[in-house]
Amino acid sequence: MFIKEELQFYEKNRPKSKEIWKKALETLPGGISHNIRTFGLHLIGGFPVFINSGDGPNLKDIDDNEYIDCWCGHFAMILGHNPPEIRERVKEYLAYGWHFGTNTEYQVKLAETIIKSNPGIEKIRFCVTGTEATMYASRLARAFTKKRLIAKAKAGWHGANDTLSYDIGGLKSVELSPGLLKAEQAGIKTFEINSEEIFHIIKENSNELAAIILEPVLGGGGGFPADPEYLKRLREETERNGILLIFDEVITGYRFTNSLFQNELGVIPDLTTMGKIVGGGFPIGAIGGRKEIIDQSSPDAVNQVLIGGGTFSGYPLSMIAGLKTLEILNNSQKEYSRIGQEGDRLLNNLNQFFNEEKLKIIAKGHKSIIMLHALTKWIEQPTMREIFEFKDRKREALLQLALFNRNISGLHGLGSISMAHTHENVAKIQEVVEKIAHPVSQSEFN
Ligand SMILES: Cc1ncc(COP(=O)(O)O)c(C=O)c1O
Repeated sequence: MFIKEELQFYEKNRPKSKEIWKKALETLPGGISHNIRTFGLHLIGGFPVFINSGDGPNLKDIDDNEYIDCWCGHFAMILGHNPPEIRERVKEYLAYGWHFGTNTEYQVKLAETIIKSNPGIEKIRFCVTGTEATMYASRLARAFTKKRLIAKAKAGWHGANDTLSYDIGGLKSVELSPGLLKAEQAGIKTFEINSEEIFHIIKENSNELAAIILEPVLGGGGGFPADPEYLKRLREETERNGILLIFDEVITGYRFTNSLFQNELGVIPDLTTMGKIVGGGFPIGAIGGRKEIIDQSSPDAVNQVLIGGGTFSGYPLSMIAGLKTLEILNNSQKEYSRIGQEGDRLLNNLNQFFNEEKLKIIAKGHKSIIMLHALTKWIEQPTMREIFEFKDRKREALLQLALFNRNISGLHGLGSISMAHTHENVAKIQEVVEKIAHPVSQSEFN
């Protein structure tokens, strides 16, 4: 009953989105241009909203419904939507043109800015997406070590490139996408974070293992932080065995403080991939790290490693918006603390509530990253393994739908808290999640 009523209410208030969705299905596979942007709603007979505008913590859809948005443009919009300082800076620049396919001083400035606040970054190559960055980092690592294998975290998301799209859905080896080589042929090993698995892989494959890549907090995988001690041990073992360590900081970079998360962790990898926030909401990817590894890509290098080459690499608007964003973030330490505390509080309050009420939902995350998982049964403090084993995709879709109906937009349950979110916004999010948690948890799916 709850599902039916929620779907009816959703549909009634979104006639324009529904109309466009019909057209979208005719022109775009699955109606979307990014796999997760159905918000899972197709699983329960719904359709996604089409967004018209964003302002601060809010989004407005084409039917004029307003949402407190936690998805924040795939975590990129840490300043909230349409921040005036970035908008004005970009507008100013637009008067000069926006794509020259040449070098601009802004890419040098952005590189300098990032290098200045991150001891692990000696040189940078910019590209357009995080997907490219992780693919290039893997290639650089293979070239540098002259070894073949890359180990990646299970449930780790590094973009849908051919190199790393293995075991992205969970901890069990799920079916591989048609069109990709088998992991063995592709030279990929996968491991569960915070477990012994990677240390066995290192032991058995040190002569062949070029690099280990992982996110310090599994983002697309659902907000699972890697244990800092585990990361430290990984650093020691990789160093000891001539294996490169790559942190994918596309989400965590500049998310918790005005630099990469590795500095706070005290674990400096050989290579780091960046994206999202450092482009100020414009398309960006970057690979940074030890000079001698990145320098392999220089046209002057004896055996130049082919990376980059994108028409839009170092895209001027991304450099400009990124620079302005990092400048603002440089003076935002208080705001970082505030949103970190808001996130921690929200996560703890929600988990306490879910647990006391024995609900089939659990929150995971770190500071301003907060995601919700729905399960087929209540489990007290489920482990990551249990969360993946008992994941209930339809219940997650219903949760998302019920949130939209109450003017909250998110993905992976919620997503993140930006500096535009007020304490009242976060209190509202908690109130709404608690309100819908019972019926979402009790709903039966066929
Ligand atoms: C950790 C991580 N790495 C890489 C990527 C890919 O970045 P992009 O979507 O810019 O290609 C993502 C995207 O969500 C990500 O979360």
